[in-house]
Amino acid sequence: MAFVSEPRDLAQIVRDGLGALVFAFGYKTGIVDAFGEVEQPCTAEELSQKAGKKLRYIQEWLGSMVATGIVTMTEDGKYSLPHDKSVINMWGHASTLFPIFCELFPKLEEATSQDGPSGYPSYNPFLQWVDLCRSAETLKTWNEMFLVPFMKLKPGDAFTILDLGCGFGKHSREVAKLYPNSKIFAIDMDERSIEHAKKEISTCGPNNIEYLCTKGGNLPKEWTEKFDFVIINDVLHDSYEVDDILKETKRVLKADGYAAAYDPPISSYHLKIVQDVLAQFYLPCSFFHCLPVSSMGPSGEGLGIGWGYERKKQKIEEHGFRVIQVGDKDVNTIQEGIVFQKLLKRKGSNS
Ligand SMILES: C[S@@+](CC[C@H](N)C(=O)[O-])C[C@H]1O[C@@H](n2cnc3c(N)ncnc32)[C@H](O)[C@@H]1O
Repeated sequence: MAFVSEPRDLAQIVRDGLGALVFAFGYKTGIVDAFGEVEQPCTAEELSQKAGKKLRYIQEWLGSMVATGIVTMTEDGKYSLPHDKSVINMWGHASTLFPIFCELFPKLEEATSQDGPSGYPSYNPFLQWVDLCRSAETLKTWNEMFLVPFMKLKPGDAFTILDLGCGFGKHSREVAKLYPNSKIFAIDMDERSIEHAKKEISTCGPNNIEYLCTKGGNLPKEWTEKFDFVIINDVLHDSYEVDDILKETKRVLKADGYAAAYDPPISSYHLKIVQDVLAQFYLPCSFFHCLPVSSMGPSGEGLGIGWGYERKKQKIEEHGFRVIQVGDKDVNTIQEGIVFQKLLKRKGSNS
């Protein structure tokens, strides 16, 4: 049997990982920010002074960064961090996952044991990390790419929208601002997240939004056929009750309503993710957080990001939804969003 992939240099992968960990330290503790503020190229002394850190530690940090190739040097021994600010911020924030995952190491060790717990509940620092990814700028771009085309499926802008699994609520607040004539309901099963979301709107709105702490698989009885749109952003792969969520989504959607589930665009099949850069990023996140969190249900079977696009699409169709194409990507192409609508009831059918 022929192999479809070549292994990469393991030693280099581990060395790069260590370098990324040291970079993460610099990003989290202000050394990288200080680098952006001094005139470059700079000396170790200048950086040490700007960062307010001991010179000897800064020298070792710089040495590690030069060896890894993140920092460059001039012949006269000065240092530069030659990356765009946006790139530094994006990958700097990504690198702060390292300490979060290190903290989860012991819990994951237990969960992976045959006789250990099936998983563990959401870890607040990870949820905070996700929330920090949702900057006003990234949400604006995200909405233009994924949300607005989906909302155009229905005419007008006075919708009733459900944000299911809203987390700290940043996205739902942007949706509420973008559609001020609409009424947004946003729910999450995590009490702390909902408290945080409620506090945010208590001072400066928006006022067309209501937060509720409840499970997506057990929505209020009076919500039957209430919503034009249901947004399920970064939730299904994290959830241990996907069947219940989809059943409830179907119940609360109007007959002509639409839902969209957004999850990382990863294939369900390992043969399709060989050396795939998105999978290189998202599957470690799943290993440490999404999979154990989604394994907390009665069956102990978790989805995680490895559940993937194809199996997600299949599950949505099994629940009697019609998956529809929005934009130019065919519905069978692996992508972040999957938009679906209720199949119209046939005469004499209860489903
Ligand atoms: C990765 S966060 C995404 C939050 C938010 N949608 C966003 O995009 O910023 C996933 C959220 O889904 C929530 N969640 C997972 N399963 C849920 C369920 N069955 N019912 C309600 N919320 C759920 C978690 O509590 C968490 O806040």
